[in-house]
Amino acid sequence: MKQSVKMIVGNWKMHGLGGALDQARAIDEAAKALNGACRVALCPPSTLIDRMATVLRDGEAAVGGQDCHAKPSGAFTGSVSAEMLADAGATLVILGHSERRSAFGETDAEVAAKVEAAIAAGLEPIVCVGETLAQREAGEAIAVVSAQVEGSLPDSLSERPFAVAYEPVWAIGTGLTPTLEQIAEVHAAVRAAIVKRLGQGARTAPILYGGSVKPDNARDILATPEVGGALVGGASLKAADFIPIMKAAV
Ligand code: PGA
Repeated sequence: MKQSVKMIVGNWKMHGLGGALDQARAIDEAAKALNGACRVALCPPSTLIDRMATVLRDGEAAVGGQDCHAKPSGAFTGSVSAEMLADAGATLVILGHSERRSAFGETDAEVAAKVEAAIAAGLEPIVCVGETLAQREAGEAIAVVSAQVEGSLPDSLSERPFAVAYEPVWAIGTGLTPTLEQIAEVHAAVRAAIVKRLGQGARTAPILYGGSVKPDNARDILATPEVGGALVGGASLKAADFIPIMKAAV
């Protein structure tokens, strides 16, 4: 049976001015050359979404946001709604990233509300979960991640396309990665938690791995059971790093 197409998503975080659109163009050219053998998306800062979507209009790579507010509009100075992301040209959005959960105190319930908002705006949510080093060392990784899945995925997801990203907090931006066995173990638990939460229909939702994915470890990680793609931070900023990761998915 043909393996389903892997999803490779770049999370630019708070990096990228107009000049970085050249990298997006190069990534998109490479994505086109892969002829649909892998799904590619870039999530730049909000200020670049409109311009990137315009540059990639006839391209292969999709454009996404990194967060949204749970409300469609209102007196929330500094925030951007899901509807605004969609209006700017985004088709997906990362939600519940650990940097939002830790630096901005986002709870599972708040993430779930944002997922609802994303769905209402027609965006495909990528919901992030992951344990801290202290939680892993305490033997709590599976319990923590399963509880985050349970609390962050609203009922309304059952009929919609979405992805979950497993990103161990201690692997993000550190150059450390779990062993392939640890990745396989957590991904199996995430799959079980998704199916428990939303039913068998959610069996095919991709589960991405994120945390220090690089050109030299991408192939092994992407070949691990239940790894449906990668969420890539640092290595997504330069086409020269990101393109080999895309190719490793094929
Ligand atoms: P990293 O970030 O690839 O730089 O570790 C991943 C992420 O935070 O999504």
